[in-house]
Amino acid sequence: MSIPMSDLKAFDTWYEKSGVRVTLRRMLSEDDEDILKDFFPRHLVPHLNHPLVREQEEPLQRYLSAQHLYQWLNFTSHFEVAVVCRATQQIAEDNCGLEISNRARMDAFKILIDEGYHSLYSLDVADQIEKRSGIKALAYDFQHFLGNLDAIGDDYPQHKRLVQLLQVVVFETLITSILADIPADKNVISVIRETVRDHAIDEGRHHAYFSAFFTQLWGQLDRTERQLVAKLLPDVIVRSLQPATKPAEAALNQAGLKPEIRRSVIAESYSRDAVLGSIRFASAKTVALFEQTGVLEMPGARDGFFSAGLLVE
Ligand SMILES: [Fe+2]
Ligand SMILES: [Fe+2]
Repeated sequence: MSIPMSDLKAFDTWYEKSGVRVTLRRMLSEDDEDILKDFFPRHLVPHLNHPLVREQEEPLQRYLSAQHLYQWLNFTSHFEVAVVCRATQQIAEDNCGLEISNRARMDAFKILIDEGYHSLYSLDVADQIEKRSGIKALAYDFQHFLGNLDAIGDDYPQHKRLVQLLQVVVFETLITSILADIPADKNVISVIRETVRDHAIDEGRHHAYFSAFFTQLWGQLDRTERQLVAKLLPDVIVRSLQPATKPAEAALNQAGLKPEIRRSVIAESYSRDAVLGSIRFASAKTVALFEQTGVLEMPGARDGFFSAGLLVE
């Protein structure tokens, strides 16, 4: 059960523990061997495990892995400010449509600072690695993802702010294997492991905040709004966790793989079942939060989560 916002202690030690206040800028190791380590753990990049990719020469696989890292860092850098800060600012400014305490507002300001810093170091790490490795990052387009995520609220313009709050609740309560696995992986370039570790620690606090926030939000919604939230949430989860197949395909293209090979690699690495399986895994705690809060008790809600593939028999 998530705790009431008034009992939330996660940010009491923020001044002493948040990454932005206690860590120095993370820099690439001086050690020449370090940059030769992995850019990303292979088990987290579906297309790198495809047989048609595994049979390619090592430099090509390394190129694809670097592009995946750049893509993830660029995504993070944009997402934190464009989506997380957008909604969190509404809370911080006491403009989120709910009654919110000054303490919860100050915690929201702390989150804004954390996320701005995560954006900064995501870009910083990408830039440092690009320069040292000599592997140039392909252009990155965040607007496609954002347009798709924001389209969820298109039919309900009067609830735009509420939809933005749902986006942040969902994303901040997901458990990503990236944040969990990379810090412990000694084969990964040190600066990546260090920044992901820093990031994961901050996100633990955010997770507690947004779990409590959602419970408060739900408690203050009327029945019509609750019905709408229950209807929209599966789509928010699925669209938040869609894998970035366009950048993957662009990297395969740039690496010189033929169109038919590229198509097979993408189609087989990101099959509907595989994608839904990983979305279900990443969203299990988020869905459990919605279960505890009573979202799934709304008429038709449980069916909606089942048909989106977020719940299985
Ligand atoms: Fe973050
Ligand atoms: Fe966060």
